This record gives sequence, structure tokens and C-alpha cells, in this order.
Amino acid sequence: MEITNVMEYEKIAKEKLPKMVYDYYSSGAEDQWTLQENRNAFSRILFRPRILVDVSKIDVSTRVLGFNISMPIMIAPTAMQKMAHPDGELATARATTAAGTIMTLSSWATCSVEEVASTGPGIRFFQLYVYKDRNVVRQLVKRAEEAGFKAIALTVDTPRLGRRESDIKNRFALPRGLTLKNFEGLDLGKIDKTNDSGLASYVAGQVDQSLSWKDIKWLQSITSLPILVKGVITSEDARIAVEYGAAGIIVSNHGARQLDYVPATIVALEEVVKAVEGRIPVFLDGGVRRGTDVFKALALGASGVFVGRPSLFSLAADGEAGVRKMLQMLRDEFELTMALSGCRSLREISRNHIKTDWDIPRYLPAKL
Ligand code: FNR
Repeated sequence: MEITNVMEYEKIAKEKLPKMVYDYYSSGAEDQWTLQENRNAFSRILFRPRILVDVSKIDVSTRVLGFNISMPIMIAPTAMQKMAHPDGELATARATTAAGTIMTLSSWATCSVEEVASTGPGIRFFQLYVYKDRNVVRQLVKRAEEAGFKAIALTVDTPRLGRRESDIKNRFALPRGLTLKNFEGLDLGKIDKTNDSGLASYVAGQVDQSLSWKDIKWLQSITSLPILVKGVITSEDARIAVEYGAAGIIVSNHGARQLDYVPATIVALEEVVKAVEGRIPVFLDGGVRRGTDVFKALALGASGVFVGRPSLFSLAADGEAGVRKMLQMLRDEFELTMALSGCRSLREISRNHIKTDWDIPRYLPAKL
């Protein structure tokens, strides 16, 4: 079957992957309300396209943290990609570099920072989980820096792992032969079978639940890399992140895998953008599957978006070629959306190019 959109990769991945792996990649927390909402909320945003604009030339390129990239679509960190394909994160890195954009490597990758760097030059960010043992963190950040990673995406929504019920039922563990490669030498690379989700047990044992704002300062004291705070969904936290010197914010609900019944990220985005007042860039991930979704996020003030599951499913379906095609399809759709909306560059995308269901007042107070 010819693939004509990003979502079609999920079906192929489901057929190809062992149930435990597919369930781990696809599921959200508990009732999975936020999982559906991350997608559904995009459909409550409609376009207000402008016509008769000369769109014979469209420029989708942009700058992120000072780096020129081909498009405002980047790869979110997702763990354990060798479960999807034997080339794992190496394939994702190659495809992302070929597309001229940024890959974020998960702390829990099945390839190390050094292995990913060995694929050649490319702009890459490193996603960080802070372990109780801060020496582990120090070493890891230093290795990422030395391997040429350009920023740290600090994940702040995971003091404990959200309850993903299929992982509990499947007794999720890393398949034989795979390890969390960055932690292998530190003897923290295995996720064993337990009576629960093996990952939930691993997180409970290793991840520092006491992480707080002061640790951003600590992180700044051990690295000169810019720090993106990943997992902010309120204006209150957005303001604090700016105060603490974050280089950017990623509005994320972890692909709906942590706290269920938080709003879709596309709904939370605008409150964060308003609170930040342009002081640092705001990015979004969660449910982005179409070029129209990218446009909507930019119209609401995002500087760019990240995709998570689309990279896993396209990787599972067709390795590096799959991830390349996934990124190309999103790029083409986004460019088409710009043309049909009358926007020639990202600068021209404005709030007036969309309307949301929260723009329409639903409650009109009775006349006084
Ligand atoms: C993730 N995500 C994630 N985030 C993170 O900071 N570190 C990680 O290791 C992982 N691992 C991970 C694994 C899998 C299987 C998924 C689906 C997600 C969250 C990820 O970075 C991102 O926030 C979401 O995936 C974005 O939502 P979509 O694009 O998957 O809808």
C-alpha cells in the first residue's frame, strides 16, 4: 500500500511489532483521555485563509536556538528505538540530518550519545532524566556535550512514571540484547521484568523525585549548554522557567503518558506563550500528525513542533527511509497549508490565520 500520510505508519507498525512493544509506544496513561484529546483538539481549530497572495515561493526554514534548520518540525525524544528497528536511534539520526532538522535523543536510548554522534554532523539535542545519583547525571551531560549535542531538554513531568496499563499487563521489560546504552557502563542499563511495568519500577528506583526549580541552577552550573524545559503546561510554570534562565520551553504532556486529564498541548500552548511574552521560544509536542497541525501550533505562537510517535512508527515500518518519508510528508503538508493560507514565510503566520473554539464566547452574561 502506498503511504500518503503519517498516520498510516501506525497500522504497519502494529502489524510488524511484538504486542509488548507496540503497546509501549502507542499507549497513554490510565483512561487515555488526554491521548485522544491531544489529537481531537487540533480539529477544533479552523483556518481563516487569506487569498490572492503571491505564494509562488514559500520558505519553511527557521532558526532554533541560533541554528538554521530546514523546517519547524523536529524529532521528540522517544526511548528504546531499537525495539522498533535494529538500526534504532542511528536511523532516526541519519533521517533527521538528511531532512535538515533537529533530533532529540532520549536519555533512555538504545544507542549511546557517542554512537549517535558517529553517524556524522547534525544538530542534536539531548533529553535528560535526572537520576538520584547526580554523578551519573554529571557524567552523562558531559558526554553529551563532548559528543556535540547542542542543548539539553530537561524533562520535568516525570518524577514518577504515569500509569500505562498495557505496560503493567504486559509486564513490560527491555527485550533481550537491548540496553539503555547511555547507562550501560554505569550498571543502570537494564530494565528487568517485574510484577509491574519494568519501566515504572526502574523510574521509581533511579529517577530523582525531589527534582525542583533549584536544580535548573544546578544543571546550569554543570553545563554551558542551553536548557529547554520540557513538560510545562501552565502560565505559572512558564514564568518561573523564564526566571530560572531556561533557554526555551517545550509545551508537552509527554504524549499523554504521564498525568491523564491534562489539556491537549495545543490548548495549553497559548497560555504559556502569553506568559512568556516573547522572552524565550516556546515549542510544542503532542498529537502533531499533519502539516495543518504544525501551522496551527505556529499560529498560536509556537516557534516549532516536535513529533514523537510518528518517528517510532515510521522507523518500525521502514527504518531510516520511513523516518525520512515521514518528515518529508509533514514538510510537504505544512508547505501546502502555508500556500493555501496565503503565508510565504513563518513570520507571516499569525493568530488571525486561525480561529479556535475557545475564541467563541460560550457564555454571555445576562444583561445587568
Ligand atoms: C516518549 N516521550 C519521552 N519523553 C522524554 O522526555 N523522554 C523519553 O525517553 C520519552 N520516551 C517516550 C517514549 C515513547 C514510546 C513515547 C510515545 C513518548 C515523550 C515524547 O518526547 C513526546 O513528548 C511525545 O511523544 C509527543 O507526543 P506524540 O508526538 O507522540 O503524540
